[in-house]
Amino acid sequence: MDMEALKRQAAARALERVTGGMKLGLGTGSTARHFVDLLGEKVRAGMKVIGVPTSEATRAQAEQCGIALTTLDEVDRLDLTVDGADEVDPALNLIKGGGGALLREKIVAAASDRMIVIADETKWVDTLGRFPLPVEVIPFGLGATRRAMEQAFAVAGVSGQMVLRKGKDGHAFVTDGGHWIVDGHLGRIADAPRLASLLNAIPGVVETGLFVGLASTVILAGVNGIRVVERR
Ligand code: A5P
Repeated sequence: MDMEALKRQAAARALERVTGGMKLGLGTGSTARHFVDLLGEKVRAGMKVIGVPTSEATRAQAEQCGIALTTLDEVDRLDLTVDGADEVDPALNLIKGGGGALLREKIVAAASDRMIVIADETKWVDTLGRFPLPVEVIPFGLGATRRAMEQAFAVAGVSGQMVLRKGKDGHAFVTDGGHWIVDGHLGRIADAPRLASLLNAIPGVVETGLFVGLASTVILAGVNGIRVVERR
């Protein structure tokens, strides 16, 4: 079975939890893309939902699929966000931001009553950190921010290279919010909540790709079927 088929299976299972009238956060990435696609089919068949996209890419896709969109200025809370992840640990903490949309993804997830993560089983890890940790930063004063990040890494007991993410044009990758991303190649993050709060205390850090306490359910699709893990 190919990876895209697994991602689509996870997306289809999440869609079973969507009912008419829901206000939905629409995630970003190749797995969330399947969800938006399948949701579009439901909408065209008559289901009424309204969505808040977590990136300009998802906005464009959702519009194409005919999904009605709104913003967090117009609605108060969302019922559910469905999004992918780069890594998921047994506490349902996540690394996100491989696609660069972590800031809007986190704002939308935090404004949602529930977050369902959809992924293929390769995203499940014992400990976060093999996937480089995306940290969204302000371009101004980047040197100072990097030094402060290094200190935060040391205090949290992690170390590794920090790499400024580049776009296809070879220049710094620019997020939807106009910021840059530094990827921390840390290998193993023993205490994700602590590292997240240390990094978030740095003035030049906008957000980190560590999603702590946000996911309520993870749907993992593998060659032997689908596994659903609920937050305890
Ligand atoms: C986007 O910024 C990310 O957080 C994605 O949700 C994450 O990278 C998962 O993407 P895939 O579903 O493409 O693996």
